[in-house]
Amino acid sequence: MKILTLMSSFRKHGNTAHVVELFHQELKSLGEQNGEPVEIEMLQVGHMDLGLCRGCRACFDLGEEKCPLQDELLAVKDKILAADGILAASPLYVDDVNGIMKNLIDRLAHVCHRPQFAGKTVYLLATSGGSPAGHTLRTLSTAWLTWGAHLAGSASFMTGAKMPPDEISERYQEKIARSAGKFFRAVNQERYKNPSFINLVVFRTQQRAWSNAPQDSLDYQYWKKQGWTDAQCSYYIPHQAGILKTGPAKGVGWFLSLFMG
Ligand SMILES: Cc1cc2nc3c(=O)[nH]c(=O)nc-3n(C[C@H](O)[C@H](O)[C@H](O)COP(=O)(O)O)c2cc1C
Repeated sequence: MKILTLMSSFRKHGNTAHVVELFHQELKSLGEQNGEPVEIEMLQVGHMDLGLCRGCRACFDLGEEKCPLQDELLAVKDKILAADGILAASPLYVDDVNGIMKNLIDRLAHVCHRPQFAGKTVYLLATSGGSPAGHTLRTLSTAWLTWGAHLAGSASFMTGAKMPPDEISERYQEKIARSAGKFFRAVNQERYKNPSFINLVVFRTQQRAWSNAPQDSLDYQYWKKQGWTDAQCSYYIPHQAGILKTGPAKGVGWFLSLFMG
């Protein structure tokens, strides 16, 4: 099992790094117990060569390889594509992800137009001083769901300004073990093959929006080439969801697409 962690705190030994480290330990021991070795790569996003999105739209209109920044973004994307599971972890800054994580999300905005992460399972982590992290986790889940990923779950941890690793472990070991177990099982059992209702709704909403895009646009051509503009197509990849889920998802997706420009 290949896990990629995208950790956006600039502090290499801060709260988020410690929570992530405990999460990794749990994943490794679950791998050993289940005879499924877990290979983990962690990217400390803030220490990579990733420029700020300038909003030039080259990725949308010409293709992501035409981004003028020519930095490590496409390498990050290749690593996501090569992983089975992605752990996305951010500290909370003013009730949202930090700027480093938001920039990564913005740099991957073309994946909202041309979703490529179906088949990937993601788990979301946030640490905060003391605030609830609902909005932060929603920012992360909105991005990953729009990119087509399967959301295994999320968890947040109140760690103050700087909590000693022992205290993090003492307070949160059980919660981290539960969360890692959920993530491990979702990846191990390939639950992405049975997409959630929300995954199906997102697909249908996008399907209506991109099917109506100009036919010479990159986005339309991408959707057409995948076979996703066909109204019979209910998801990015072959799946096991039944009609009781796909039927209502089609209706809700159609309804929501009415609110999109
Ligand atoms: C610029 C900045 C803004 C922050 N805003 C909040 C906030 O709005 N609410 C909160 O509970 N904690 C806030 N915090 C605290 C961090 O979320 C918390 O200490 C987090 O665990 C830091 O993770 P790190 O050690 O991995 O960087 C903020 C910290 C910084 C540096």
